[in-house]
Amino acid sequence: MIVTTDDELDKLKAIGRICADALKTMSEALRPGITTAELDAIGRKILEEAGAQSAPEFCYQFPGATCISVNEEVAHGIPGTRVIEPGDLVNIDVSAVKDGFFSDTGASFAVPPVHGKAERLVRDGKRALWMGLNQVRSGQPLANIGKAIGTFAAKNRYTLIQNLASHGVGRSLHEEPSELSTWPDPEENRIMEDGLVFTIEPFLSMGGQWAVDGEDPWTLFSDPRAMTVQFEHTVVATKNGPLILTLAE
Ligand code: CO
Ligand code: CO
Repeated sequence: MIVTTDDELDKLKAIGRICADALKTMSEALRPGITTAELDAIGRKILEEAGAQSAPEFCYQFPGATCISVNEEVAHGIPGTRVIEPGDLVNIDVSAVKDGFFSDTGASFAVPPVHGKAERLVRDGKRALWMGLNQVRSGQPLANIGKAIGTFAAKNRYTLIQNLASHGVGRSLHEEPSELSTWPDPEENRIMEDGLVFTIEPFLSMGGQWAVDGEDPWTLFSDPRAMTVQFEHTVVATKNGPLILTLAE
């Protein structure tokens, strides 16, 4: 969507803050011994107390309030009986809706004690997101985002998962502009309109190229199998740069 009124912006800010709060609270509870279902329940409580509803549940009947993907899982992991162990790499993705407005955020965490490689991957995954965020400005090509992230990944010898794109968000969880590449994409010729709301969510990996299906209808794995992280914010393109809607307090 394109934001045109203060009321729309206020509602987008409100749901962005709620998603950020849920993600932050879940990350603070992440420790060895907790199950992914227990983590999900913490996220659900934050959303419900704020008057919001899980977007994947609302839009797609996803079996959980949030997506929690551990180690070999790259995205859309289903919360359940899996117990978090020391050294796990855990991605939490929170998207929700309130008053008809949607927001979407995610982050990966390494559960201590952490190996150097995983720690570096987490740090660099966050940096990759910021490389993209720094390209946001209305009137500029959307392709700049994928170019900047791709340059960063190549320079640091990472790969990017190339079939999990970023997306427009706001009036629904996934809307136009769809299929926003967080990797260099010569076909991308769209412009960031002033007020455009979308996500940036690169999947930075130590060798993974694609996300592929597993045995359940949701969970995605990297191919080839490799440690992968994802960091995601929802932003509005303005003439002064990105207005990030999913920063926690
Ligand atoms: Co997300
Ligand atoms: Co998203």
